[in-house]
Amino acid sequence: MSQTQRQLRLGAIIQGASGNMSAWRHPDAVADASINIDYVLDLARKAEQAKIDFLFVADGLYITPQSIPHFLNRFEPITLLSALSLVTKQIGLVATLSTSYSEPFTVARQFASLDHLSGGRVGWNVVTSPLEGSAKNFSRASHPAHDERYRIASEYLEVVKGLWDSWEADAFVRDKASGQFFNPDKLHTLNHNGKYFSVQGPLNVGRSPQGRPVVFQAGASEAGKAFAAEAADAIYTRQETPELAREFREDVRRRLVARGRNADDIRVFQGISVIIGDTEADAERRYQQTAELVTLDQALAYLGRYFEHHDFSQYDADAPFPDIGDLGENSFRSTTDAIKRNARARGLTLRQTALEEATPRPTFLGTAQQVADGLAEWFLSGAADGFVVRGGTPTAFDDFVTQVIPLLQARGIYRQAYEGSTLRENLGLAEPENQFAGRRQQVA
Ligand SMILES: Cc1cc2nc3c(=O)[nH]c(=O)nc-3n(C[C@H](O)[C@H](O)[C@H](O)COP(=O)(O)O)c2cc1C
Repeated sequence: MSQTQRQLRLGAIIQGASGNMSAWRHPDAVADASINIDYVLDLARKAEQAKIDFLFVADGLYITPQSIPHFLNRFEPITLLSALSLVTKQIGLVATLSTSYSEPFTVARQFASLDHLSGGRVGWNVVTSPLEGSAKNFSRASHPAHDERYRIASEYLEVVKGLWDSWEADAFVRDKASGQFFNPDKLHTLNHNGKYFSVQGPLNVGRSPQGRPVVFQAGASEAGKAFAAEAADAIYTRQETPELAREFREDVRRRLVARGRNADDIRVFQGISVIIGDTEADAERRYQQTAELVTLDQALAYLGRYFEHHDFSQYDADAPFPDIGDLGENSFRSTTDAIKRNARARGLTLRQTALEEATPRPTFLGTAQQVADGLAEWFLSGAADGFVVRGGTPTAFDDFVTQVIPLLQARGIYRQAYEGSTLRENLGLAEPENQFAGRRQQVA
């Protein structure tokens, strides 16, 4: 194996029983997985044993009785990762948190604390909250519009990064003899006064063990990509084909360069699901067994959630996907654009569209060798820097770590041991310098 071989990175998503929205009914499923700490601990241990880069927790802020069952009763991400930080040693911990319904000081503090608890293994998946209904849970008259949400997020990240730079790494001298607790030259007060936020600082947590927590971004619209190029270390995205994924990654890398960053300063992760069988037919059988658990009504509700909880049951399911105008623009824009485009291009009916969304065929389905070959092909052709893996059935993630990862290791594209102790080190990302210390050095 060549030491300079670019290495594939992997995340594992924690989301319900694994599989589709009805997978909790599968004979092999842990039905209460989304609120079962023993289930999560088991998954975390397996992922860490397999040298997976990070665990990834998605999130949402609004439910209705029709929501996906594992969205109805689930752990809050920061709370969950705080617990995991003490029982894991090396794996990264990435939590989703929205910039539209939170305060930068609180969030900077939570992630900085979690980074200290975990010894520098934390990432923040920055989202802007697609669901209109979220406003109703946060005393707001309305949900901010799509592009405005990204303008808020941009200023928000500027504030959070400023707060994370409040203290230089060696600010706390704690000299018992002299009585000096900290060096005042290494304390920086932000004094931010912007359009959306006024935050004085400093933060009451010292510098993160990895400089700053790793910033992930999920959202693939124009505004989303621009925001990622400005503020993110990693992207969580989903494209249907390797060609589209390659275009997406190249687009993002070009945007970084246009902003004066290096193309290699970002890691693009494709969110994928996998099903592994003893043969291809066995994998297909496992897919069908899980897909059959989802009824048409459930699939229509699943689809509706993307489109501001639109009621798709009012249409003829066997007619072409209905014309619903701009619906979805202000929620999951990049996702709803893709659903509409795909339905139109392939002439799908509403039934086909809903079932494809609710019971998606895994991107990688087949024998362990076929799945490993597929992942390697995407990776080596520049379609992704890595993958955030979701099991397409309740037992598929176990099959992935026991059967597929060893094949990736044998090919020399996946690690046998963690390279570093922080998430940044393992992802091969440089530690950011403290912006205030940098400026002081420039003046000097
Ligand atoms: C692959 C992917 C995963 C996402 N995961 C979440 C999530 O867990 N929680 C959330 O509130 N929003 C999530 N989002 C939504 C986006 O962050 C954003 O709020 C919304 O989709 C609009 O952004 P976009 O049009 O730029 O994609 C996700 C979006 C994508 C594309």
